[in-house]
Amino acid sequence: MCGIVGYIGEEQAAPLLLQGLEKLEYRGYDSAGVAVYTGEKLEVAKAKGRLKILSDMLDEGKSLRGTVGIGHTRWATHGAPSDINSHPQVSDSGKFAVVHNGIIENYLTLKTFLMDRGVTFVSETDTEVVAQLLEYYYKKYHCDILEAMIRVIHKVEGSYALGVICQDSPDELYAVRKDSPLIVGLGQGESFIASDVPAILAKTREIYRLNDNEIVRLTRSGVTVFNTDRDEVHKEPVHIDWDVSAAEKGGYEHFMFKEIMEQPKAIRDTISPRIRDGKIVLDDITLTREQVESFRRIVIVACGSAYHVGVVAKYALEQLTRIPVEVDVASEFRYRHPIIDDKALVLIISQSGETADTLAAMREAKRLGARTLSIVNVVGSSIANESDDVLYTWAGPEIAVATTKAYSTQLAVVYLLALYLADLLDTISPEEYESYLDDLQKLPEQIEAVLQNREHIQYFASRNFNAKDIFFIGRNIDYALSLEGSLKLKEISYIHSEAYAAGELKHGTISLVEDGTLVVALASYLPLFDKTMSNVKEVKARGAYVLGLTVEGKTEIEKETDFVFYLPATNTMMQPSLMVVPLQLFAYYVAAMKGCDIDKPRNLAKSVTVE
Ligand code: AGP
Repeated sequence: MCGIVGYIGEEQAAPLLLQGLEKLEYRGYDSAGVAVYTGEKLEVAKAKGRLKILSDMLDEGKSLRGTVGIGHTRWATHGAPSDINSHPQVSDSGKFAVVHNGIIENYLTLKTFLMDRGVTFVSETDTEVVAQLLEYYYKKYHCDILEAMIRVIHKVEGSYALGVICQDSPDELYAVRKDSPLIVGLGQGESFIASDVPAILAKTREIYRLNDNEIVRLTRSGVTVFNTDRDEVHKEPVHIDWDVSAAEKGGYEHFMFKEIMEQPKAIRDTISPRIRDGKIVLDDITLTREQVESFRRIVIVACGSAYHVGVVAKYALEQLTRIPVEVDVASEFRYRHPIIDDKALVLIISQSGETADTLAAMREAKRLGARTLSIVNVVGSSIANESDDVLYTWAGPEIAVATTKAYSTQLAVVYLLALYLADLLDTISPEEYESYLDDLQKLPEQIEAVLQNREHIQYFASRNFNAKDIFFIGRNIDYALSLEGSLKLKEISYIHSEAYAAGELKHGTISLVEDGTLVVALASYLPLFDKTMSNVKEVKARGAYVLGLTVEGKTEIEKETDFVFYLPATNTMMQPSLMVVPLQLFAYYVAAMKGCDIDKPRNLAKSVTVE
């Protein structure tokens, strides 16, 4: 969601800014722009639509001279996507140019305040307020840019990552963040800002992660970080050790497909270092047996697919630890005055570690006294930093908007955690523990086997990619997984679909089933296999065409369904890790056959850093 890149150095800035923005395209955007100091003044170029339009306009950046600049890809929040509303936004006199991720919540009050003092606004954005306010303070107090930035920070409410350049100080670039990610890249005679690592990975691997309201001044000779009292802040550089190819397509047509194929490795990387001599070792968390015993319940909060992991986690954690578990969508949890205290363990799940609702929900839980434990993929992200404990998923960078390997590694961490807590609480026998651990370690090779068989799903997709409505049904943990199967399909193929608990369908939704309606029946939870088959009969009787998914050996499914995909068997708790793969592949192939923009689906962003 929105991307920021900034550069100061000896090279021409505009081509670098455009290249950096290209690496952030996956985050989702609807317009793009750059501002560069050309030697005399700030020059701004912006265009609604794909980055390619801007790049063509600027001859890949070559037509814009200058060695300091900022760039942005915008995902509209305030004001429709348009050239004018694109960033950078510029102050009245053209002195300041600003790029912004996040939302300035009190922008209307500030806009009125400035308009009453004669400032003219040209856009509908909240960001323009920042540019205008900077200039207002800069002129009013005859102060330097740092001082103007501090005054702005004290005035604005909301979330922001800001990149700022000023015509009067052409050898400096400024940035600051609050509740929206921003990193600083450290080079030789050059420095960068970016909202995410891939934007600058080709140029440097040494970065600073900024904390809230740390203001950074970048010059060609170095980077200085200040707090809001103007004191210098010492930062330790962080080395990024990703393989550059991890953020490239590496010969695959889409990131999503590459990431689906990477799942065996991602799960192996996530679990292997945490299993030693037949035991799960979670060095990363500090919970004692007494603390775990004191928890009356576990509350899981997350958004989207991470929430769906939470729904599976409820089954796994309750089954193994016998601690009651609640799962809540973060945007609901944060505003429903949740009843939480220090007897609750709040588990936060997030790939990016920056999702605004999830971060806010975690802060609310902490404020109420809960112990927080997060499962996060991006190292050093806000949720990882602020939770009491963090368990990282070692999935590597996930670029496609539709999550696949992050979902799978989150599930793997959930199993590790459930087994670890059960062992700590003695709610599992040594034999069961050993057997679960064996199954967990077999998952990567079982997923490899499912992936080998992908043509079967591709064939099914080729026969059904024109479907108008698709229903995913299942019971117990299959129902939990059907939520993800349905979301995956709709987000990238734009086909309407719904996930339903198989037994609930007859209470209303079955009225939508008619001749030829496609139903995907998940039937890996064998204790309720027959019940699910009864529900399949109900939809078949109304004309549905049914894809059945179950474990190898359950051939009786063939009598009830029109097409079957078999999966290797594991324990019922871990079956979603295998079953999710054909659902991801189905969504992928359907979207590909429909010609959809798979890695960057319309209206969606990878990391949702606004409410
Ligand atoms: C899933 O494919 C989506 N991209 C989305 O639902 C995502 O899982 C959600 O926005 C949460 O993101 P997070 O894991 O980064 O917090």
